[in-house]
Amino acid sequence: MALIEIEPLGAAAGARLHGVDLSQPMGDNLFGEVRQALLDHLVIVFPDQHISPDQQKAFGQRFGSLNIHPHVEPLPGHPEILNIVKEPDEKLNFGGGWHSDMTFLPEPVLGSILYAKDIPARGGDTMWANAYLAYDCMSQAMKDMLGPLKAVHTANEIYGADGIYVDPRHPASDKSLEVEAAVAETEHPIIRTHPESGRKLVFVNPAFTTRIAGMSKPESKPILSYLYDQITRPEHVFRHRWSANDVVMWDNRCTQHYALNDYHGQRREMHRVTVNGDRPF
Ligand code: SIN
Repeated sequence: MALIEIEPLGAAAGARLHGVDLSQPMGDNLFGEVRQALLDHLVIVFPDQHISPDQQKAFGQRFGSLNIHPHVEPLPGHPEILNIVKEPDEKLNFGGGWHSDMTFLPEPVLGSILYAKDIPARGGDTMWANAYLAYDCMSQAMKDMLGPLKAVHTANEIYGADGIYVDPRHPASDKSLEVEAAVAETEHPIIRTHPESGRKLVFVNPAFTTRIAGMSKPESKPILSYLYDQITRPEHVFRHRWSANDVVMWDNRCTQHYALNDYHGQRREMHRVTVNGDRPF
């Protein structure tokens, strides 16, 4: 008999998991069901959780080692937790554009776990797009053309010296660290095979992908724009309206997400734990 009840939420992704208390240590059988739910639904919601930073980290560690973000200041005393805050007087939010987390790393992260500490009365939803569906709906000729190609990823346009989080016109709680190091580039296949499901997906995103390897930016742009449009087609998107104390985990290897910035004048605070991943193939 199953230990958790799974309530599917969206056609493209998303499920709410009932019967899990993340403040308690998780046995192997329960963890196996949670991990399978993540593989099946890509974005899993744990409602009404009351967890400390250490308990959030302990849950993340069930999936692997935790990431320490090279460019974002952590929650004091917890290097593995991002404190994602937008104050009522700020205009710039964190994650307000389509992206997969940290694809600028040679080994991009497996997934992220976001805990809703303070949510606006209205607005501040997050959307996720299913990147498997983008691959599934392409023609065989397009799949064949993209198959051998790689794309170049960098943190520079977001966290670098000219990035949005150091622009003095947009003061924000989440400031860039180590801006010089953000220029580093890495290459990943455009079509990635998920290491656990074995399914193929499109692995480029507008925040961190700058061009197709071996092509100029103008040559790359129409192909990348086409791929971004496929990934974020409305039919491929799940949108979550947050409730206080929701914990949401997503599979970063096969989704992209977008934090809506439609709640100026209200406060929003989230804690994010991010699990390290492996090199895409
Ligand atoms: C993120 O991009 O990790 C933040 C998502 C959110 O705040 O909804």
